[in-house]
Amino acid sequence: NPSNVEMGENSMLEQAKCRAKGGAPGFKVAILGAAGGIGQPLAMLMKMNPLVSVLHLYDVVNAPGVTADISHMDTGAVVRGFLGQPQLENALAGMDLVVIPAGVPRKPGMTRDDLFKINAGIVRTLCQGIAKCCPNAIVNLISNPVNSTVPIAAEVFKKAGTYDPKRLLGVTMLDVVRANTFVAEVLGLDPREVSVPVVGGHAGVTILPLLSQVKPPCSFTSEETEYLTKRIQDGGTEVVQAKAGAGSATLSMAYAAVKFADACLRGLRGDANIVECAFVASQVTELPFFATRVRLGRTGAEEIFQLGPMNEYERAGLVEAKKELIGSIEKGVSFISK
Ligand code: NAI
Repeated sequence: NPSNVEMGENSMLEQAKCRAKGGAPGFKVAILGAAGGIGQPLAMLMKMNPLVSVLHLYDVVNAPGVTADISHMDTGAVVRGFLGQPQLENALAGMDLVVIPAGVPRKPGMTRDDLFKINAGIVRTLCQGIAKCCPNAIVNLISNPVNSTVPIAAEVFKKAGTYDPKRLLGVTMLDVVRANTFVAEVLGLDPREVSVPVVGGHAGVTILPLLSQVKPPCSFTSEETEYLTKRIQDGGTEVVQAKAGAGSATLSMAYAAVKFADACLRGLRGDANIVECAFVASQVTELPFFATRVRLGRTGAEEIFQLGPMNEYERAGLVEAKKELIGSIEKGVSFISK
């Protein structure tokens, strides 16, 4: 059986690599949807992350090719590929972190909610696998609509009896990355010096940048606030239109996903004060899920921060965001529970 031979070779290689590194364990990370537009650059960047010792690449197409390619990079992580549903369980066994960019992306004129029909089922299947094979893994969910797929994942885990809200994180990091970039442009600063909290959810008006809380402290005219808020909310659509049918954000998303996954791994390692925005189970508002800043630790999202002081414009935005968000959350929940 060639796949067993391959596994044997891989585990020997892995042991050799661990020895070479003085036995430093590192973390085991799986990417589900690893052959896609996000998955491929994400796999490459994860292979470059020194916190990763084992990298599993799963997809329903082209996983062996992407795996062979990535595995030639002379970095520490051992890479293994898994193709198709029969190999899902092997892909997931023993993982510390599972990153999910599987599913169809938007084309011009589509909303993220238009993806629900296809992606909801994909996320359900993958999360059933996680519940069975690595129920303690941290899950970073990228597949859209995130506002609905995170509630779907939660319901799947509840049914399986493995749900721990701290370990399920919807990835909204791209909204933060965009906000930092666009705000830095307006302020004439280096984007690496700018930090913008983005709360709510990950679609249209549910994306709520809190420009009154930007660091370093600064102020914006009402025109700037309007321009920045809209541009951050429509950042994904800007890319979808520019790609003109060839998909949505993939490279900036892979960058954002790795930035977020790295924060999760540093949290798992026990680093202090790792704070990022994510869409999580929450009591910050009356909604069961909400994106806010969270502190990442050994057990996932260990602390969820309050929204903090908001100006009138942001409070009005919050009302709009919640109106849309509640429907998306309910749609996700009822997909599993009905
Ligand atoms: P893509 O179509 O290029 O890649 C998706 C990959 O998922 C493909 O390789 C496909 O074979 C794979 N796939 C499909 N069904 C699968 C299954 N059952 N199991 C495992 N893999 C499966 O799409 P792209 O551009 O990589 O986007 C992926 C998802 O990420 C989309 O839903 C998109 O809307 C979402 N996205 C989320 C963002 C966020 O900020 N959270 C930003 C950008 C995209």
